[in-house]
Amino acid sequence: MSAQINWNLLRTTALAVANNAYAPYSKFRVGAAALVDDGRIITGCNVENASYGLTLCAECGIISELARSGGGRLIALCTVGNDQPVTPCGRCRQLLWEHGGANMLLEVNGSPRKLSEMLPVAFPEESNFVNPESKS
Ligand code: THU
Repeated sequence: MSAQINWNLLRTTALAVANNAYAPYSKFRVGAAALVDDGRIITGCNVENASYGLTLCAECGIISELARSGGGRLIALCTVGNDQPVTPCGRCRQLLWEHGGANMLLEVNGSPRKLSEMLPVAFPEESNFVNPESKS
């Protein structure tokens, strides 16, 4: 891994971007900041919708921003909601797994934890699934 993890910077960046959240329904303003393997820091905030189920979590914004800004692998993520630490929901852990994998770190109540611990036996890398597209 090339990039050093500055957790304080990730946290302050997540706190700042939470100000851009669009959360009129839950009033829970979420900001996320992630370190990419080339050293850049990307951000996301939650964007809600009147049909609550279509809400976009801050981590969805992170995934979109990762692709938009050139791709790469996620190394570390910090999420805050209403200025307190937040752990990503189950759906977002799966999204993060796709672009960060087992060794990606999440800040959980102040301590880094591996995604493999937060999403044990994840699909597909730790199951028997073989993508037919990738068969030679
Ligand atoms: N939310 C996030 O953006 N990220 C999380 O990790 C947890 C939940 C959002 C979704 C919704 O807009 C609000 O927080 C309340 O659930």
